[in-house]
Amino acid sequence: MPRVALITGITGQDGSYLTEFLLGKGYEVHGVMRRASVFTTERIDHLYRDRHGENVRLHLHYGDLLDAMSLRRILSLVQPSEVYNLAAQSHVLTSFEQPVYTAEVIAIGTLHLLEAVRDYRDTSGNDVRFYQASSSEMYGKVQTMPQNEHTPFCPRSPYACAKVQAYWQTVNYREAYDLFACNGILFNHESPRRGETFVTRKITRAATRIKLGLQDKLFLGNLDAKRDWGFAGDYVEAMWLMLQHSVADDFVVATGKTYAVRDFLEETFGYLDIDPAEHVAIDERYLRPTEVNVLLGDAAKARERLGWKPTVDMPGLVRMMVDSDMRLAKQERALVDAGHIAGQSTAERSADRASILRGVPFEEHGGPGKPAGRLVGGQSVFGEVEKQRVAAVDRSEPAPANRLAGGG
Ligand code: NAP
Ligand code: GDD
Repeated sequence: MPRVALITGITGQDGSYLTEFLLGKGYEVHGVMRRASVFTTERIDHLYRDRHGENVRLHLHYGDLLDAMSLRRILSLVQPSEVYNLAAQSHVLTSFEQPVYTAEVIAIGTLHLLEAVRDYRDTSGNDVRFYQASSSEMYGKVQTMPQNEHTPFCPRSPYACAKVQAYWQTVNYREAYDLFACNGILFNHESPRRGETFVTRKITRAATRIKLGLQDKLFLGNLDAKRDWGFAGDYVEAMWLMLQHSVADDFVVATGKTYAVRDFLEETFGYLDIDPAEHVAIDERYLRPTEVNVLLGDAAKARERLGWKPTVDMPGLVRMMVDSDMRLAKQERALVDAGHIAGQSTAERSADRASILRGVPFEEHGGPGKPAGRLVGGQSVFGEVEKQRVAAVDRSEPAPANRLAGGG
């Protein structure tokens, strides 16, 4: 009998890599997904097999972290031995716009799931292990350098506050009910499947489109923030290793190197041999009310006790993401050249259309409390030059208001 795993957030970046990983290990994998008016399974489509076929080991179930009944029903149907809770409203800037919803999904949603898992274990008598997707964002205004499992949390966003609550709930279920429950405190991890509004993917998507003449400008926020960026494919292995460990525990997962957003930008543009000074400008809408200035993880415990280590560094990550996004940009360029779609110069419009072609939504928009439909910033990242150029782009190509309502 194959081992059975249940994943919430299976349609997200990490959900897709974890599914791939567990199927590779021979697991039967069940995923909880939300119903939406468009398909949201693009990241796992390559793994999905028609249920009428043979040896089908990936199954999807409609459910929601906010719908406790759906979680209980799925648990009793699936009878998993491992539960990975990856579902979240995971965008930090968006959490300032939707703090209550973010807290409900992350904090209350995790509590719904922990309660359901505890009851499932107690009524079925099955052993079950629980993984909680905790985050380096919880360190916020960092109290030590680097951060490890003993570093105090000092959250700086509604997202991080909610993750801190979910973290302690997980610890409490371990201590109060002897549930095998682990927190993975994962530092930023990226991939070609990263959502397009997170800064790394936003940069690699834009740079490849700029290279092929599909876009002219890239608008960013704080370039001085520093992050410890790893590869998502490496990090899902750490999740699994935590649940195979002899005792339930909490682990930091990180590369141990930190880079500024500016470094990632320069690495990307350098790889494509284009000059960021000609294309990149600051837009204040992407600044956060409170920022996490620096994150740097110490994953010694995961290395020593789980035997885990990262295999991809930041330059390797850039190459991987740029190569993948270049394939997308070339497809789009071919469609423009063949007259199937019109060429456009703004990021919002052309990326939106490219996403429609690929069947996924593109969300490139502004931050909280800023006027919709017009740019509020536009200074050069590398000098003084860009204000006029940005203003020209703004006048000629106003972004539709309905594209400016979320985090970017
Ligand atoms: P992601 O790509 O944004 O995926 C989030 C997933 O959660 C999606 O499948 C989404 O479904 C699902 N979801 C959102 N709200 C839900 C709800 N109410 N009920 C059920 N599912 C819901 O995030 P990720 O990068 O894969 O990250 C996975 C987890 O790790 C998240 O909890 C994130 O906060 C945490 N984390 C991420 C990082 C990182 O650097 N990537 C670092 C530390 C921690 P839809 O497809 O329907 O939107
Ligand atoms: N998204 C975005 N867009 N971020 C920008 C931009 C921009 O245009 N310009 C600069 N940044 C800066 C942000 O201010 C932040 O300091 C940094 O780039 C990284 O932003 P994100 O890529 O959005 O990631 P994050 O660090 O806020 O959050 C991610 O990592 C957390 C782990 O530390 C998410 O995956 C969270 O879910 C995760 O918990």
